[in-house]
Amino acid sequence: MKPEANPKMTILSSPVGLRSIINSLVAFSIIVSSVTLLFYQGQEGQVPMVIEHEHPKMQVQMAAEHHEQLRVTEAPVPLTAELPDARKEECNWSTGRWVYDNLSRPLYSGLKCSFIFPELSCDKYGRKDVMYQHWRWQPYGCDLPRFNATRLLEKLRNKRLVFVGDSLNRNQWVSLVCMVEASIPDNRLKMRVFNGSLISFKAFEYNATVDFYWSPLLVESNSDDPIVHRVEYRIIRADRIEKHANAWRDADIIIFNSYVWWRKHKADMRMKVMYGSFENGDARLEEVEMVDGFEIALKKLTEWLSENIDKNKTRIFFAGSSPTHSWASNWGGVDRNKCLNETEPIYKVGYKEADYSMMEKAMSYFGTLEQKGIRVDILNITELSDYRKDGHPTVFRKQFAPLTKEQMASPASYADCTHWCLPGVPDVWNEFLYGYLMYK
Ligand SMILES: *[C@@H]1O[C@H](CO)[C@@H](O)[C@H](O)[C@H]1NC(C)=O
Ligand SMILES: *[C@@H]1O[C@H](CO)[C@@H](O)[C@H](O)[C@H]1NC(C)=O
Ligand SMILES: *[C@@H]1O[C@H](CO)[C@@H](O)[C@H](O)[C@H]1NC(C)=O
Ligand SMILES: *[C@@H]1O[C@H](CO)[C@@H](O)[C@H](O)[C@H]1NC(C)=O
Ligand SMILES: *[C@@H]1O[C@H](CO)[C@@H](O)[C@H](O)[C@H]1NC(C)=O
Ligand SMILES: *[C@@H]1O[C@H](CO)[C@@H](O)[C@H](O)[C@H]1NC(C)=O
Ligand SMILES: *[C@@H]1O[C@H](CO)[C@@H](O)[C@H](O)[C@H]1NC(C)=O
Ligand SMILES: *[C@@H]1O[C@H](CO)[C@@H](O)[C@H](O)[C@H]1NC(C)=O
Repeated sequence: MKPEANPKMTILSSPVGLRSIINSLVAFSIIVSSVTLLFYQGQEGQVPMVIEHEHPKMQVQMAAEHHEQLRVTEAPVPLTAELPDARKEECNWSTGRWVYDNLSRPLYSGLKCSFIFPELSCDKYGRKDVMYQHWRWQPYGCDLPRFNATRLLEKLRNKRLVFVGDSLNRNQWVSLVCMVEASIPDNRLKMRVFNGSLISFKAFEYNATVDFYWSPLLVESNSDDPIVHRVEYRIIRADRIEKHANAWRDADIIIFNSYVWWRKHKADMRMKVMYGSFENGDARLEEVEMVDGFEIALKKLTEWLSENIDKNKTRIFFAGSSPTHSWASNWGGVDRNKCLNETEPIYKVGYKEADYSMMEKAMSYFGTLEQKGIRVDILNITELSDYRKDGHPTVFRKQFAPLTKEQMASPASYADCTHWCLPGVPDVWNEFLYGYLMYK
C-alpha cells in the first residue's frame, strides 16, 4: 500500500497547529469495518502501472441443482428487436419489472471476462446460485435496445469514454468492459492499463478507449488515493477540481456518479470543507451536513463544466444512485444477515429504499448546463436496482485474499451489499447508456 493518504492535502505549509489538525484528520482508518466503501486490490497497489493481457483460467462451477428451484415469474420472451421503440413518447426505461430470462441473460460470462475484478466475480469465489445472472429489465411500454458490442465499439471509434466517480461507477465500468471485450477474442487487440487514479481499457482496432477515473467526492478531497482512501474524516476542497478535470477534460463521453460517499454512517457524520489554500494564506475549514457537501461539490463541478467543456464534442451523463441492501429488515429479513443468501429480487412493485432526493439535487445542478446548450442525461437506474437485493457479492468475493471461513460466517461484518456481482445489475445500467448513445 502506498503510505501517503493524499499528498495534496498533507503537504501543506501552514501554521503548526492547523497543520497537525489537518494531518490528524487525514490519518486513515485501517479498521476493516462492515462498510460499504470497499476498494479494489491487486497489483495496482504496489505498481503504479500494470499492463495486462492475460486470460485467467476458467473455473466453471455450474450449479445445476439450483435450476430446479427456479421460480419462473414469466415465460422467457424472445430477444427484443435491434431497433427499439425507444423513442415512443410513453417509453420510460426507469419504470418496469425484472423478467426471468435465462435465454438472453447473462450477456457475457464473468468467468471468461479477462478484465473482471475479483470482488465482483461472485461465481468465481463461491456463489453457487446463478439466478442473479438471468434477469432482464423490462420497462413498461417499450423494450430496451438490444445491446450489440460491435455497434457500440463502432460508435466509440476514435473516441474516449470516461467513467468518473466512486467504486460503483467503477463497477459499471468493469461491466461495460466485460460487455465489449467478449466481442474482441484476440487478446492482442485489447489492453487494460492501471495508472494511478486512471484505469484504461483500449480496443485497438477501433482506437476506442473506455476509462475509469477515481474521484469519489467529485472535487479534490483527502479520499483521492485510489487505494488508500478510507479516511476517518473526509475533507473536500470546495474550489479545487482542476487536478481531476485534467484527467477527463478531453473525453467525448463522460459518466459521472456520486452518492454513497455522501451518506451518513452515523447520525453525527459531517463533511469538512476546505476553502482557499495555505499558500495564499486564506485557508478556512468548515463543517457542513453531508448533503450540503454534495451540493458544494456539484456546484464546483457544474461550474467547471459550463466554463470548460466543448458542447459540440462532449456528451455528459450522470449515473443515478446505486442502492445498497445492508438492512435486511427493509424487506422483512434479519438485519445481521444483510443480503446474504438472497437469491431473488424484491417483487413488491414500487419498492424504494434509496435516497432519491440526491439524484434530484444532482439533476438540478446539471440542469443548469442544459441552459448553456450542454447536453446532460441521467441514467435513472435507482428503482430497478432497488429491487435487486439478490445482486450483491456478499461474502463471495476476493478482497486481498478470498474471505476465510470465519469471515464468510459473519455477514454482518463481511457481506458486501453495496457493490454488484457481474454479470448482473450494472449490465442493465450500461444498456441504458448504450440506448442513449445509439438512439437518443
Ligand atoms: C419516468 O417515470 C418516473 C416515475 O413516474 C418519473 O419520475 C420520471 O420523470 C420519468 N422519466 C421520464 C424521462 O419521463
Ligand atoms: C431456463 O429455465 C427453464 C425454466 O426453469 C429451464 O427449464 C431451462 O432448462 C433453463 N435453461 C437453461 C439454458 O438454463
Ligand atoms: C451487431 O452489429 C453488427 C454491426 O452492425 C452486425 O453485423 C451484427 O449482426 C450485430 N449482431 C447481432 C447479434 O445483432
Ligand atoms: C484515437 O482516439 C483518440 C481519442 O481517444 C483521438 O484523440 C485520436 O485522434 C484517435 N486517433 C486517430 C488516428 O484517429
Ligand atoms: C500516467 O499518468 C500520468 C499523468 O497522471 C501521465 O503523465 C503518464 O503519461 C501516464 N502513463 C501512461 C503510460 O499512460
Ligand atoms: C459548435 O457548433 C456550432 C454549430 O455547428 C458552431 O457555430 C460553433 O462555432 C461550434 N463551437 C465550437 C466551440 O466549436
Ligand atoms: C446461507 O446459506 C448457507 C448455505 O446454504 C448456510 O450454510 C448459511 O447458514 C446461510 N446463512 C444465513 C445467514 O442464512
Ligand atoms: C428516477 O426514476 C424513478 C422511478 O423509477 C422516479 O421516481 C424518480 O423521480 C426519477 N428521478 C429522476 C431524477 O428522474
